[in-house]
Parts: sequence; structure tokens; C-alpha cells
Amino acid sequence: MSLRTILTFPNPILRKKAEKISNFDDSLQTLATDMIETMYDAPGVGLAAPQIGESIQMIVVNAAQDEDGQESLVMINPEITEKEGTQVDDEGCLSVLDLTASVKRSKKITVCYQDITGEKQEISVEDHFAVVLQHEIDHLHGILFIDHLSTLKRALYKKKIKKMLAAEK
Ligand code: NI
Repeated sequence: MSLRTILTFPNPILRKKAEKISNFDDSLQTLATDMIETMYDAPGVGLAAPQIGESIQMIVVNAAQDEDGQESLVMINPEITEKEGTQVDDEGCLSVLDLTASVKRSKKITVCYQDITGEKQEISVEDHFAVVLQHEIDHLHGILFIDHLSTLKRALYKKKIKKMLAAEK
């Protein structure tokens, strides 16, 4: 197991559409383990493979009900097949530094995916967990939560990051 570096905006890998996974081998298992370790270390409630520079369709999430619990779920090639209702929740992202903002998402979703052995699975979730899954699945399509904000808010954030990066030089 090893901790991986989390890429941050505006790294172009975060904007790529991730490739579907068809090879369920040992290296995939190792990558999943690294992602889980990196997620808990951050700490975060979810992590998508592109965030550590692997442009493939895998996400890991903490599915524990209680706040301090750890129950890792690995989802490969996830696809939202049903959506219902709306909710607005505050979101942040390990790849989007210094920003939390409220985002409108579906209240309830059904997701089809494959587990680490390649077995097909389906899960229906709602509320906060549905937000986490929608956020992580977005990453596989090159979408960040700032893309759901108003043009003005997004522009302000880009300006702030530009300044931050310039100050580092
Ligand atoms: Ni994120």
C-alpha cells in the first residue's frame, strides 16, 4: 500500500474523460487499496482515480453511516441509471483547494457498477451519500463541482487560484 499524490485544479488530467476498465487484475486491486488509503489519509469521503493521475473509471467512497466509521466501497465503471428529486448540499473536493459551495444534485439515485472482481452490482442511495456518488462519478467525466456553480462564482475561484499559483512562483 502506498499513499498517492492528489492532483489539484487546474491539472488537465482532472478534465479528461476516464477510460472504462475491462481488466480486473491484481494491479487494479493494488490501485484500489492505494486510493482507499489516500482517501482516509486526506481525509475525504470519496476519491476518483483521475484525482491521483489514473484516467480510468474507478471511484472509492466511505459508505459508513456514522461519522467516524470506515466502510470502503470500490465502484468500477459506475453509471447513474435513475435519478429522482433534488437537494442542495455544501460540497468541497480534495482537488479543489480552499473552496466549499452549495451544489444542486439529485436527491435519490440508482447506480450500476462493477465491483473489484468485475461482478455487476446495483445500488440505490439518497441524501448525502447520493451527493458523494454524484460528485465522484462526475470526476470520471472530467467534471468538477465548480462546474455546477454560477459563472461568476467559478470565475472568482479561477482568479483566486491563478493568484495563489503566481504567489508560489
Ligand atoms: Ni472531488
